[in-house]
Amino acid sequence: MTQTTVITIANQKGGTGKTTTAYNLACALSHEDKKVLLVDFDPQGNLSMCFGIENPDQLKFSMFNIMNALMSDEPLPDPKEYIHNHGNIDIIPSNIELSVAEINLRDEMGGEKTLTTLLESMKQRYDYIIIDTNPSLGLLTINALAASNSVLIPVNPQLWSATGLTQLLKIIIKVKKRINPGISIAGILMTMCDTRTNLYKEAFRLVKAYYQETVRIFDVQIPLSVKVGEANFYSQSIIEFNPKSKVATAYCSLAKELMQGEQ
Ligand SMILES: Nc1ncnc2c1ncn2[C@@H]1O[C@H](COP(=O)(O)OP(=O)(O)OP(=O)(O)O)[C@@H](O)[C@H]1O
Ligand SMILES: [Mg+2]
Repeated sequence: MTQTTVITIANQKGGTGKTTTAYNLACALSHEDKKVLLVDFDPQGNLSMCFGIENPDQLKFSMFNIMNALMSDEPLPDPKEYIHNHGNIDIIPSNIELSVAEINLRDEMGGEKTLTTLLESMKQRYDYIIIDTNPSLGLLTINALAASNSVLIPVNPQLWSATGLTQLLKIIIKVKKRINPGISIAGILMTMCDTRTNLYKEAFRLVKAYYQETVRIFDVQIPLSVKVGEANFYSQSIIEFNPKSKVATAYCSLAKELMQGEQ
């Protein structure tokens, strides 16, 4: 197996399409015969729910237990207990307890490397590891960035904020300088795009004006579509639910764009 690429999906703004992108990108990559590990690193547990885990709060083992075991130098649970599987995709789920792990991280020496330690031991089994983060720039997101080769930033034109994106980019630069020199920005992905609206046109113009020089903006954009909500409702990726839809095609193109960038 060639080198594993670890991608964090981050934007501290809520509802920009992080979880939807993590899940559908994983499915698109698995259709390209890639072995993918999804890491739900958000106490909301939305990615775990997308994956079909109905009640993440009732899980016996989740990311919380793993982070705690790592922080207290205790043996990890058996991977069979915390890795859930669906075809070519594995997931480590999370639930609300992960917010306690975030508090514990504050007092932990070298705590920002906790997730890195876990993923290093698992890398040889996967082509891609995709980490879904919570809408914050706190210690969980820093942990995810510390463990990653690259970060993909979904931007929703309806919620676009130059200040927010600039803050995120500053944090990534800090992480690169201080913790993880190997990290780079995969790019900005425009999500939930209704290209007919003036709002979309203006937001996209501004994203290009502010960032085009320094950050890649993916050619592919994810259209706004009610199909995404429907697919979620049935705990399916849009690629399984409606493979011919524009959103499914867009996520497949994104997977190809990412794979090409690595060759
Ligand atoms: N392309 C799309 N078209 C229509 N709705 C979408 C699309 N992508 C995501 N959504 C919907 O928008 C909402 C927010 O998406 P999602 O949960 O992926 O965002 P998020 O950034 O992970 O949110 P949070 O910051 O809370 O973790 C969800 O209800 C999702 O189903
Ligand atoms: Mg989310």
